[in-house]
Amino acid sequence: MKYLSVSEIAKKWNINERRVRVLLKEKRIEGAIYQNHKYLIPENATKPLDRRVKGQRCFEDSPLEKTQFDFTNYRKIYPSEDGYFGRYGGSFLPPNLKKAMKEIYDGYLTIAKSAKFISELREIRKNYQGRPTPIYHCRNLSNYFGKVQIYLKREDLNHGGAHKLNNAMGQALLAKYLGKKKLIAETGAGSHGSAVAMAAAYFDLKCDIYMGSVDIKKQAANVSRIKVLGANVIEVSEGSGTLKEAVDAAFEAYSKEYKTAFYCLGSAVGPHPYPLMVRDFQEIIGREAKEQFLEMTGELPDIVTACVGGGSNAIGMFEAFLNEPVNIVGVEPLGQGKEIGKNAATMCFGKEKVLHGFNSLVLENPDGSPANAYSIASGLDYPGVGPEHAFLKEIGRVKYEAISDDEAAEAFFLLSRLEGIIPAIESSHALAYAIKCAKNMNSGSILVNLSGRGDKDMDFMVEKYPHMFLN
Ligand SMILES: Cc1ncc(COP(=O)(O)O)c(C=O)c1O
Repeated sequence: MKYLSVSEIAKKWNINERRVRVLLKEKRIEGAIYQNHKYLIPENATKPLDRRVKGQRCFEDSPLEKTQFDFTNYRKIYPSEDGYFGRYGGSFLPPNLKKAMKEIYDGYLTIAKSAKFISELREIRKNYQGRPTPIYHCRNLSNYFGKVQIYLKREDLNHGGAHKLNNAMGQALLAKYLGKKKLIAETGAGSHGSAVAMAAAYFDLKCDIYMGSVDIKKQAANVSRIKVLGANVIEVSEGSGTLKEAVDAAFEAYSKEYKTAFYCLGSAVGPHPYPLMVRDFQEIIGREAKEQFLEMTGELPDIVTACVGGGSNAIGMFEAFLNEPVNIVGVEPLGQGKEIGKNAATMCFGKEKVLHGFNSLVLENPDGSPANAYSIASGLDYPGVGPEHAFLKEIGRVKYEAISDDEAAEAFFLLSRLEGIIPAIESSHALAYAIKCAKNMNSGSILVNLSGRGDKDMDFMVEKYPHMFLN
């Protein structure tokens, strides 16, 4: 039998490719198969009747169809040459740092795209990081709620216990190629700090990690880890003593050392080219996950979700699903409420503004200054967000929801008890959103990016939630 590709069948039936993908997702094209990462459709397949009713909400009203945006060449177009996703992104820096960013961007476009670099990184991912990380079907958790199947992409099993190493090894390899002698980085939860310290040890580079004084106390286990790995932890006690101040201090240090040091940024934020670079180094998550999920279940998930701090694990997960008929949801921390200073839900409550050298959404005080962000999860405690997320929200492709401290804590203990997996409190936000959906949906599947493991959070969680711990 002769088979046609999605684009060929779209042409034959005179509909767009997106529509064909929705029909595939609904299993309405007889004989269609999935092989070598592609759908194949029998040439003689019958075009299903159009059941859509204008204005009526149903699955065909999925975000992919609603957005009217063509994602076929999305990665090639976004960001633009000067780092914009629509009007978000760019680079707002003093001239000396602009020069430093140009060196990194040029290096990224040439060195990081070379066959040698790619094969070296591939070898590191396989033999040092232990990739691919698996997909896990949470049978107990799914049965607990009854009707919806919940799956985890196990980034907690990546070496170091979080997704952060995917990006840290990529940037450190680039630093080595550029002849730099030191890595400088900020950290909130300490996951990125640990990852950069590991990368520095691996590549024999010096390493300074800037961390807020509040986070140093809260994430003591990771602070010890960073020190054991041979890196320096530099305490930042200004302001709220959390991630924003750590970024300020690390950038300040880098602006004095950029000739010999490399700034290893931990999320899909910052001036161009960081949002692009971090996305590219993290997109291994979604690529693996899509293939593994299809292999395990024979179809795509109904919902893909991940927590959003700066947005690196989320963008790494989402990218592979943007052009698929899948609902994509980023989950932010609602902390202790909607008021300024009580949350870090930038996508929900932020306004357009330049912070840390890029234009995106930022939580603001009434006087327009950046607000203090708060979340139980140090890694989500940032008043800004990656520019690509602001763009994906604006064009309607990704939905952003907020989950409170207590909801995340419940998910933290529930997954631990039912599945024997202790999630990072950051990842517990995405999990809590999946649990909320599982309570309200009658069927379907949800794929959660479990961005990290929760060992670092144990002491803090047990102290803060003794009633959940004892039950
Ligand atoms: C385990 C874990 N998940 C998620 C995050 C949030 O970062 P991002 O939004 O860049 O993925 C962090 C940040 O430290 C983290 O440690």
